[in-house]
Amino acid sequence: MERNDFIKSLGLGIALVCTGSCLSGCGSKGSDPQPNNPGGGGPATGTTANVDLATQILSIGASVTVNGILFIRTAAGNTTSSFAATQAVCPHQGGALNFIQASNFIQCALHASRYTTAGSILAQPNDGGTTSALKVYTTSISGNTLSVTV
Ligand code: FES
Repeated sequence: MERNDFIKSLGLGIALVCTGSCLSGCGSKGSDPQPNNPGGGGPATGTTANVDLATQILSIGASVTVNGILFIRTAAGNTTSSFAATQAVCPHQGGALNFIQASNFIQCALHASRYTTAGSILAQPNDGGTTSALKVYTTSISGNTLSVTV
């Protein structure tokens, strides 16, 4: 084997090794079978969150996060059907979820995934990963207190 041929074959071998290790190391987030899920499924069982309806989320579209639960006023009046309650931390990678009143959806501050107030996915994360539907909670009202117990 000529010296040039040997060097070329050596270079090709190194290139193949580097390419293989890079590809296996990087992976594709878009093909993840499961969302990267440090945000998990919301607050721990037993968590309680209360909203004072005399002073909080008074107007339609207003929202507040209490104890890991995102409360959203979706209609006038103080009945349970006037509110939505979802987990406040994104299932993808734990970003904060905010209700975007002008667009009527919940959006993650980290990778912009979007959800309905019923927890359904409207848009996947913008990093190529996948998220899952939000947990939604049943609300109750006693006096001026809106509550969720997980
Ligand atoms: S953490 Fe919410 S979309 Fe990534």
